[in-house]
This record gives sequence, C-alpha cells and structure tokens, in this order.
Amino acid sequence: MRRLALALVVAFAASAASAETTLDYDFFKRKVEPIFLKKRADHVRCAVCHQQSNNAFRLEKLPDGASFWTEEQSKNNFATVSSLVVPGDPAQSRLLLQPLAPHAGGNAYHSGGWQFASKNDPDWKTLEAWVRGRKK
Ligand code: HEC
Repeated sequence: MRRLALALVVAFAASAASAETTLDYDFFKRKVEPIFLKKRADHVRCAVCHQQSNNAFRLEKLPDGASFWTEEQSKNNFATVSSLVVPGDPAQSRLLLQPLAPHAGGNAYHSGGWQFASKNDPDWKTLEAWVRGRKK
C-alpha cells in the first residue's frame, strides 16, 4: 500500500514537471545537435557512435557529404533525444547522465567515455538548458 502511494507520488511529480516544461525544437537544432557533431579533446564525436546505433540514443545518419542533418532528420533526432530526457528534470535525464563523469554525478559506465568531466562543461550546460526548456 505504501509502495503504491509512493509510486503515485512519483508519477504525479513526473507529470507535473513535464506539464510545465516543453522542449524547444529550435534550441535543439541550433545548440544541441551541433554538440553531437563536435570533436572533444580525447573523445570521439557522439554522432560517430550514435548514428544508427543499436541503443536508445540513435541519431539519423548524416546524408553523404553533408555536415548537418536535413530538417526531417533533425525532427526525428528531436523525437529520439526527447525520449532520453525528463523535461524540467536534468537529474533524471539519461542524455545528461550517461556521458557525464561519475565523480561529477554521471552514470558509472558509458562505452563512449566520460565526455563531460563536470557539470561546468559549457556543452553539458547547454544540454541541461534544453532539458529545462530554454528557448534561446
Ligand atoms: C565510442 C563510441 C561512443 C561515443 C563517442 C559516445 N557514445 Fe554514448 N553510448 C555508446 C554505447 C556503445 C552505448 C550503449 C552502452 C553504454 O551505455 O555504454 C552508449 C549509450 C549512450 C546513452 C544511453 C542510451 C540508452 O540506450 O539508454 C546516451 C544517452 C549516450 N550514450 C549519450 C552520448 C553522448 C551525449 C555522447 C557525446 C557527448 C556519446 N554518447 C558519445 C557509445 C558511444
């Protein structure tokens, strides 16, 4: 009974958070997608491993010779990546935790490495801003 009550509270809190926060597509396209294509020192680009990958972070394949996704592909990426975050709640958002170093609060294991050493990384902050519903 107690567990059920707790589950209800959690479910309610989650829906309350998402009701308040909406993820912005333009911000995603202008600021978030470029992060997936950016080369970070000592790391491989997210997109190298995550284009058509077989895990939940599955980006579209860049068209041959193109340096950015088409509008339609960006919309698909937006849908995919949106499912990896809880709007308004960075602490529950897999997109933010998986590539973040464990000592900074990230998940223990990511085959793609600890791409962000801390939450002060400007790109990590941009991802966080998107999850919080920032529009520009
Ligand atoms: C060298 C390859 C590689 C790179 C580069 C890489 N990843 Fe990954 N990532 C993986 C693999 C493989 C998995 C699935 C297994 C795991 O979590 O290690 C994964 C899992 C994930 C997941 C969880 C997906 C799920 O199924 O729940 C997220 C989110 C993620 N990565 C984000 C990123 C971000 C953001 C970047 C760039 C900043 C990045 N990854 C760079 C290989 C990579």
